[in-house]
Amino acid sequence: MKGVILAGGLGTRLRPLTSVTNKHLLPIYDRPMIYYPIEALVKAGIRDILLVTGGSSAGDFLRLLGNGEEFDLQQLNYAYQKGEGGIADALGLARHFADDSPIVVILGDNILERSIKPAVDAFRKQKSGGKILLKEVHDPERFGVAELDGDKVVNIVEKPKDPKSNLAVTGIYMYDAQVFDYIEGLEPSERGELEITDVNNMYIERDQLTWETVDGWWTDAGTFDSLLRASNLVKDGGANKD
Ligand code: G1P
Repeated sequence: MKGVILAGGLGTRLRPLTSVTNKHLLPIYDRPMIYYPIEALVKAGIRDILLVTGGSSAGDFLRLLGNGEEFDLQQLNYAYQKGEGGIADALGLARHFADDSPIVVILGDNILERSIKPAVDAFRKQKSGGKILLKEVHDPERFGVAELDGDKVVNIVEKPKDPKSNLAVTGIYMYDAQVFDYIEGLEPSERGELEITDVNNMYIERDQLTWETVDGWWTDAGTFDSLLRASNLVKDGGANKD
């Protein structure tokens, strides 16, 4: 199993904090945001990691992280996303790195209280298809939202005005190697991006997507409120705990 961290984007919702740096280099309590997803993967037993970033601060990730020594890694891999093609476009850059291996993908601004190791271990046994992690939230309109029929996810809608549930699709996705063929078949959405929600719906259409809920708290950190919330949650109880 290999890991991919997506840490691109312009971070427009956090301007002026992101006017001269990348969102994922901003602090969450006492560490740069990017430390948390790296730690999440390492604690799940994943040591082969690709970081996809972009923009003018990309070099700062190299200066900060080097070869991942801070996380006891021997090597960190990097890819550069040109432009603003969206999450699925960024993931497409991981094809060569993945080399037909299954992957765990984590959005660089997703912070979790508990280790994702149990879910990753379950996916290791699953062998093929995909798996997503869901979390009940009060503001589902901000996220991809899962529609359930019994215990099956039958559809995911990106930022729905009228959400069918309060189950947000978190930014932790596990895929087999087919994901790269699915990405190649995507068309840009109305906002001109390749959407990860469309990839997940392709797995659903083929009855290949499993899901589980996240233990403990989960938050993104892409708005002023969620950035502050993430810092406070980490300060109060730490992250990625066993
Ligand atoms: C992205 C995804 C969305 C998901 C969210 C989780 O949204 O498009 O489906 O629920 O991450 O953090 P964004 O943060 O890019 O608005």
